[in-house]
Amino acid sequence: MKKVKAFPCGTVANMVCGFDILGFALNEPCDEFEVEITDEPGVHIINNDDYNLPTDPEKNVSGAAMLALMDETPDVRGFIIRSTKLIKPGSGIGSSAASAAGVVVAANYLLGNRFSKLDLVRFAMFGEKVASGVKHADNIAPCIYGGVTLIRAIHPLDIVSIEAPLLHVTVVHPQIEVRTSDARQILKQQVLLKDAIKQWGNIAGLVAGLLKSDYDLIGRSLEDVIIEPVRSILIPGFDEVKKRSKDAGALGGGISGSGPSIFMLSKDAATAHAVAKEMEDVFIKIGIDYHTHVTTINQQGVKLVSE
Ligand code: HSE
Repeated sequence: MKKVKAFPCGTVANMVCGFDILGFALNEPCDEFEVEITDEPGVHIINNDDYNLPTDPEKNVSGAAMLALMDETPDVRGFIIRSTKLIKPGSGIGSSAASAAGVVVAANYLLGNRFSKLDLVRFAMFGEKVASGVKHADNIAPCIYGGVTLIRAIHPLDIVSIEAPLLHVTVVHPQIEVRTSDARQILKQQVLLKDAIKQWGNIAGLVAGLLKSDYDLIGRSLEDVIIEPVRSILIPGFDEVKKRSKDAGALGGGISGSGPSIFMLSKDAATAHAVAKEMEDVFIKIGIDYHTHVTTINQQGVKLVSE
């Protein structure tokens, strides 16, 4: 087998109170990458979309992840990557993580699955470094593992899959740009002890709520007193979206990754669609274009299709 197609999907990082440590995978939108082993040395990137992403592998998210994998595969001369991005870069729903994760999962399949999922996360994190300057894993881990994942530690990497009940996800992506690097730079480097106590109470409550399928506890724990108050000022309409979504029955939600997308969790599909309508109304009123997705949590990780 020399060629395979990978479909890595969008992800929601931070999961409100779990900055840099909690994330989950979506069933849509998903990118498409075709990965092929070649005798031509190096990583060769062909873009099949209009995003004009760099084709120099060191400056390209997929390329950097693949180069990290190739550092540990001296028997392979090169890879060709054909990239069709459907997750808009800069959307806050893990576009860069999908680029990095998709190609290393595909390459691993072509190499007879010689690497573990943990190894693949480690390689893909080099892609995140290119995208945002920081090797965070809260988009990459759920993209590769599927479901909800906890990044208990980065050094050394310790990833825990968290069982979750059926949750419907509504995501609105207002068409404005928030760069992850900027959204990280504005964060305060120190937090008050009283805020830290609230935050770790919420993180523990959220994880317990997911494991116990306790929707009320999940809803009560979807609160972020540290990051959201700072970052939400970058997203017009954020407070109104949140209020109207909760009034429509959402359990709760917040900024998806570093924004500008906003996500909400609901118990059923009808509520998730009602929430989408409220979100859309807010951005129609403000006059900002948007895309919405109503979907569920992806349990599978990156889907592969061989030819
Ligand atoms: N945890 C990262 C951040 C995710 O919020 O900066 C970026 O998508």
